[in-house]
Amino acid sequence: RYRDPAAEEKMNPFAEQEAWEEHQIGKATLKFGSKDKKQKYDDYEFVFEDQIEFIKAAVMDGVNVEQELSVQSPTASSAKTAFEKLQSDRKTLPVYPYREELLRAVNDHQILVIVGETGSGKTTQIPQYLHEAGYTSRGKIGCTQPRRVAAMSVAARVSQEMGVKLGHEVGYSIRFEDCTSEKTILKYMTDGMLLREFLGEPDLASYSVVMVDEAHERTLSTDILFGLVKVRFCSSLLCSKLMLQESSSLLNIRLLVSYFVGKDIARFRPDLKLLISSATLDAEKFSDYFDSAPIFKIPGRRFPVDIHYTKAPEADYLDAAIVTALQIHVTQPPGDGDILIFLTGQEEIETAEETLKHRTRGLGTKIAELIICPIYANLPTELQAKIFEPTPEGARKVVLATNIAETSLTIDGIKYVIDPGFVKMKSYNPRTGMESLLVTPISKASANQRAGRSGRTGPGKCFRLYTAYNYYNDLDDNTVPEIQRTNLANVVLSLKSLGINDLLNFDFMDPPPSEALLKALELLYALSALNKHGELTKVGRRMAEFPLDPMLSKMIVASDKYQCSDEVISIAAMLSIGNSIFYRPKDKQVHADNARLNFHMGNVGDHMALLKVYSSWKDTNFSTQWCYENYIQVRSMKRARDIRDQLEGLLERVEIELTANPNDLDAIKKAITSGFFPHSAKLQKNGSYRTVKHPQTVHIHPSSGLAQVLPRWVVYHELVLTTKEYMRQVTELKPEWLVEIAPHYYQLKDVEDLASKKMPRGEGRAIKD
Ligand code: CDP
Ligand code: MG
Repeated sequence: RYRDPAAEEKMNPFAEQEAWEEHQIGKATLKFGSKDKKQKYDDYEFVFEDQIEFIKAAVMDGVNVEQELSVQSPTASSAKTAFEKLQSDRKTLPVYPYREELLRAVNDHQILVIVGETGSGKTTQIPQYLHEAGYTSRGKIGCTQPRRVAAMSVAARVSQEMGVKLGHEVGYSIRFEDCTSEKTILKYMTDGMLLREFLGEPDLASYSVVMVDEAHERTLSTDILFGLVKVRFCSSLLCSKLMLQESSSLLNIRLLVSYFVGKDIARFRPDLKLLISSATLDAEKFSDYFDSAPIFKIPGRRFPVDIHYTKAPEADYLDAAIVTALQIHVTQPPGDGDILIFLTGQEEIETAEETLKHRTRGLGTKIAELIICPIYANLPTELQAKIFEPTPEGARKVVLATNIAETSLTIDGIKYVIDPGFVKMKSYNPRTGMESLLVTPISKASANQRAGRSGRTGPGKCFRLYTAYNYYNDLDDNTVPEIQRTNLANVVLSLKSLGINDLLNFDFMDPPPSEALLKALELLYALSALNKHGELTKVGRRMAEFPLDPMLSKMIVASDKYQCSDEVISIAAMLSIGNSIFYRPKDKQVHADNARLNFHMGNVGDHMALLKVYSSWKDTNFSTQWCYENYIQVRSMKRARDIRDQLEGLLERVEIELTANPNDLDAIKKAITSGFFPHSAKLQKNGSYRTVKHPQTVHIHPSSGLAQVLPRWVVYHELVLTTKEYMRQVTELKPEWLVEIAPHYYQLKDVEDLASKKMPRGEGRAIKD
């Protein structure tokens, strides 16, 4: 509706009033980004500037803004100015002068690598340019982002720039949340979602352009996408590669043959444009991988950044970061720039937030206000919008961010960056199959990206809380790509269901360790997703339909056999939320703990407790009040409900009936065990546990309902390494189930010292396809 300002001016004022009132009626269900905004809203001082802010807040809040946007602004002229301002802002971005040249390059080449500093307009502008140049008449433009938050916020921004409703022409798609429609032509999505779309649409027929953005992040999904688009769409590459290294890759020959015999010829898409965009300058690697694809460089406009190192290593980087931030704040004039601190995770950010609040309290009124803005992936979405709000005059903002702010999000107005030099990173031990999140030193490339965040709008300063010696001698040049440090079971299952069988010869940009691939194959075989020839089974095909970890998918598929799919999808949905279900306010810890323990009554185990939380909430007709009373995060519950609804839909797709079996605890536990039997552990004399298959000492996480109970045998959802290796989400298990459910994985001797003799006859067989 921004599209015809002239018509807006002529608008009937009464129609406006009606729309407004209609809106007022609908308003009751909306949450607002901040009280102050609501105030303005109620007072009818609603101008467009606010509306844009409001949309941003509402979008972040997950509110359906469709209805909101149908309200006409009382002042059409201010609407025009705001929209025009957005348009003129677009023209100031570094990418703008290169618009024509870029479009020519896209026209001339199937694959193009695009390089430009963060903030140069790659993500928001390039898809719009392509749309304006007519590419969307042939299909959608898809743009992938490694992070959900980035996909959502960028889509919101672009929908404003184009003057359309989010979810209509411009939309986003992230796991369990699809904000797109039939109309959508610019689709921002997580890279994982595009990977899933491949499963349903192997030729990506509905796309005219795919832009793999933030390629330098080298997430697992991005890397797999690279491999897939390369084999699927780039025939010229395939041929030239074959000529170069005729005998090398059996896979390529086979693919070529299948193209020529016609089966795959329809999939071959010379018209699909592939853009790979990256914020780092070492794009040659991408270019080499795509057979010397041309590189398009957008010259940056980076201001000089002063880099400061500490003289000696910091013993406590969190404290050092806080002290540095406060020093900047009190010594530098207010209004000269905001501060960005890179921390490793939610917990650290919350600690820093509290400490900062505490220490600024005593500063008195002479010192300017310090606005603290945390940002991390699990931050409630409406709070995420806060970091984009302009800093009020006379105040200073300090953004406490995870790596998310390194390149994915551009925050305007940052002048000071504080970089402790750490990141929380996934690491994987293929020998044991254990995955853990570890705080690790960053790479030089990361350190430089972080420093660059301070020089976007003017000269900046970066305070590295490590020594220059550390930087030059201890940091790796680049971050190891995720594919080389992660569990690959999920990816292998996806590739298998795409018909890619020869994974050892798949053309990865950086191949994963073959040990990790084998481990993944082994796990999928154990879960009966693959047969002994490594081919997908019927169970595997069903599992691949679920956008979940294979063990969770298997648990759901197995629930069919135990007639408890209704309960099991609730458990799966609750497990997918992570550990943000219960909350524990500092002043009411005892109450909160009691409320939580209520759900553990009878020592049913954590999975059952999660189920009980969900069912009780459902029994209250999804009451918010009930959540408050029980110290449960209503937002997490709503998300669980959404996920559960989608899982229910997927059940139908794989033809599993929704059956409830709430009173048969063993049936539910057996379904859980069918997915998680590789995660079994046995109690030791000293109160620790020993994992059964790859013996390792582990402990029950203190937050578990079974932490004091210590059952002899347990099955766990995941391991987390903090001070010890902890099992999180634990349920008691009868050891004979292991042999009953997974006789190909466990033998009697593994569970022998217990009641194996009691095992009923005839039950010791695997679940067949
Ligand atoms: O992708 P790249 O880092 O090159 O830049 P971008 O994300 O397209 O951002 C271009 C500009 O759009 C930034 O400088 C921001 O000022 C603005 N932007 C915004 O205001 N809000 C967003 N959610 C995203 C971008
Ligand atoms: Mg970007």
